Amino acid sequence: MVVLNSLEQLTKHLKKVRDQNYNIGFIPTMGALHPGHISLIHAAQQQQDITVCSIFVNPTQFNDLNDLLKYPRTIEADCKLLEEARCDIVFIPEVSEIYSPEELLLKKNSLEDKSWTEGKTVDFGLLADVMEGAHRPGHFNGVAQVVSKLLKIVRPNKAYFGQKDFQQLAIIRSLVKQLNLPIQIIACPTIREPSGLAMSSRNERLSHKERTSAALLSEILFELKDLYLQKTIPELKLFVANKIMTDPMIELEYFEISDAETLQKITHFGLTKSAVACFAIKLGGIRLIDNIVLY
Ligand code: PAF
Repeated sequence: MVVLNSLEQLTKHLKKVRDQNYNIGFIPTMGALHPGHISLIHAAQQQQDITVCSIFVNPTQFNDLNDLLKYPRTIEADCKLLEEARCDIVFIPEVSEIYSPEELLLKKNSLEDKSWTEGKTVDFGLLADVMEGAHRPGHFNGVAQVVSKLLKIVRPNKAYFGQKDFQQLAIIRSLVKQLNLPIQIIACPTIREPSGLAMSSRNERLSHKERTSAALLSEILFELKDLYLQKTIPELKLFVANKIMTDPMIELEYFEISDAETLQKITHFGLTKSAVACFAIKLGGIRLIDNIVLY
């Protein structure tokens, strides 16, 4: 496994890879890797010749400075996991490799700033106004900014993302389409702990008790999948609210049942091709999200 820190090194290395006509699979991450990330590495390995993983805690996607500062950083353990998973290239840039001081100082992660889209207008429309977009202002602009930069640096054939971040996946698909990037975005299933809890780097910050509580989230989602045909959407929302109230440690930020393509709330089943139920909660100050595709 090759570990590279600079853009120059990476670009040189990837040129050699491309010269040999190898296909590249890319997994962008913010580190604190867990089996969910490793499943993305494995998915890439099955389809591509060379697997590139980036580890970069992207400052522009954090709307809460405390969250950025507390984000787990476990580079040594991450590299060990990637080595064991036989990842080919790991890119671990410093912030200054990705952003100019102006971009950071001016927080130029807005869609109006066209420096990172090379003059193209990017507009996520209603996709970014709901759920995570509504609760974390600027978050998806920061995600889009770093993902577009990384995709342009690595120029993979395919890039792999987990379905746990359902809305992020929709935003990235839209970004790639709007920027006309010749990259296929591959969605991979959420990997869960034996309790059902969706794997997330943030889980590391939960106490043992909180981790047990967090399993309620997936329990509710699985029940919804079994129940949704027998109930109306308001009944399902009441069911979820009542379930959440059984655990005083859990604070519900939002629960939505939405069209899985547009991510807009739906009031009836059957009018959309596909529907997804999405959650965000806070537990001991830690924000967790999860979702299930109902049909
Ligand atoms: O999902 C993540 O870990 C991040 O949002 C991503 C896609 C690596 C961009 O920083």
